[in-house]
Amino acid sequence: MMLSQVFISAFLLLLPAASGSFPEVYGMGGDPVTLPCSYPESRVLSFVCWGRGECTADKCGQTVVWTDGKRINYRTSSRYQISTQVLHGNASLTIEDAYESDSGLYCCRVEMKGWDGVQTLTTSLQVQPGSHSARTKGLAIGISIFLLLLVLVSTLVITNYILKKKRPESPSLVALCVSKVRTLLNKEVA
Ligand SMILES: *[C@@H]1O[C@H](CO)[C@@H](O)[C@H](O)[C@H]1NC(C)=O
Repeated sequence: MMLSQVFISAFLLLLPAASGSFPEVYGMGGDPVTLPCSYPESRVLSFVCWGRGECTADKCGQTVVWTDGKRINYRTSSRYQISTQVLHGNASLTIEDAYESDSGLYCCRVEMKGWDGVQTLTTSLQVQPGSHSARTKGLAIGISIFLLLLVLVSTLVITNYILKKKRPESPSLVALCVSKVRTLLNKEVA
């Protein structure tokens, strides 16, 4: 076999493995979701940072939270919460009220005191549509029904107006509708 063929086969074999190699976490829109990340409890923490995107050699992607364990030094949204046990080996990130748009890769970077003090973990988050989209859908249906009623009522009023203008002596359309409904109801009762 040619050397290039060997390389191509190896590449094709490694491709799916590389794209699916991160631990996955699933969440529901509107619910909190926790991305686990831990370090040995015996180690002394320097800082933890969480970022969007894959961990790189010296960064935690696009930083969303940064903490020295004593306080939150930086965060882009109050939805990001770091575990209360962050000084004791648990550096998990909780996203309160997750959105579908929170889906993607997250990097947890823990720096500890000592020469071998860097640890990184990339996790893949998938947030399913949840209560947010249900709420949006409900609102859309509500607005559609309202608009439909508005169109119906205005058509009725305008038609009524035009009819009245043409033949002032004829009964109004509204009165006609009411009497029609009344006769129908009477039939039902009888
Ligand atoms: C780490 O903290 C998170 C958030 O507080 C919690 O859900 C999780 O159970 C903790 N993990 C461990 C191993 O204690």
